[in-house]
Amino acid sequence: MNPELIIVTPEHRPHIALIQINRPKELNALNLQVMGEIRDALKELDANENVRVIVLTGNERAFAAGADIKQMAGKDAVDMLLIDQFSTWDQIRKTKKPIIAAVSGFALGGGCELCMTCDMIVASETAQFGQPEIKIGVMPGAGGTQRLPRAIGKAKAMELVLTGKFMSATDAYNAGLVNRVVPPDSYLEEALRLAAEIAQQSPIAVQLAKESVLKAFEMPLQEALSFERKNFYMLFATQDQKEGMAAFVEKRKPEFKGR
Ligand code: HXC
Repeated sequence: MNPELIIVTPEHRPHIALIQINRPKELNALNLQVMGEIRDALKELDANENVRVIVLTGNERAFAAGADIKQMAGKDAVDMLLIDQFSTWDQIRKTKKPIIAAVSGFALGGGCELCMTCDMIVASETAQFGQPEIKIGVMPGAGGTQRLPRAIGKAKAMELVLTGKFMSATDAYNAGLVNRVVPPDSYLEEALRLAAEIAQQSPIAVQLAKESVLKAFEMPLQEALSFERKNFYMLFATQDQKEGMAAFVEKRKPEFKGR
């Protein structure tokens, strides 16, 4: 792997990988290369046994200001269909390990969709979320019309999607889009702290729990409950379950091995 538009640090902290989108002059606009590099990095990190949690970030000014408008401007519908950029997004969504977006500045269009594709969002007070595609004659295409209403409700999502206006970090927090809002100098640290809390847990339990929570948005309740139950039973086949419960009984800290 030799990415040019992202910086990948597999062991940024113990068990925590960091991916930084690095196209600062273009406000981290997500061209096809950036998205391909993110997809490839996530695939590698997902397969790396030392990595338990992934933090995805941009820079202070922008997490990402959207898909690359200049790259899309001249395309027609058939070009877009043949480029099939959304298969990249589908692969990103298949990442088994939790991904935390650490967001400062603009998270717009595809940038907002990318952080909603992550599992949690830690925002700087400067973060601004929005789906401004309507202002350039299109609409969200990477999940914005689906994940945003699930996160913040129909009324607020409809307003953002139809007006293109931005939502502040505090409003996003109050609406349930982000996990926490912190001062601009600590958003990455806070995301890494949250990642470290998750990295202490059994990585297999974390992965199956993530998979189960996501089913809440994809399956009817009865099927999803049955899916949850099977994942729950499966964890009793792990050494980590024995270790976790023995440690509780013995009043000590568990040492999870991911086995
Ligand atoms: C390409 C972009 C870009 C984008 C910013 N830039 N956003 N280039 N695609 N999405 C470039 C600008 O052209 C400019 O390049 C440089 O980054 C700095 O941006 P400015 O506009 O000069 O900065 P500022 O005045 O601070 O305004 C910031 C901004 C504005 C409000 C974020 O850039 C903006 O509105 N950007 C577009 C936001 C947007 O519409 N996003 C949705 C895209 S569609 P130069 O060379 O001039 O210095 C989308 C669809 C997703 O995301 C569908 C599936 C993937």
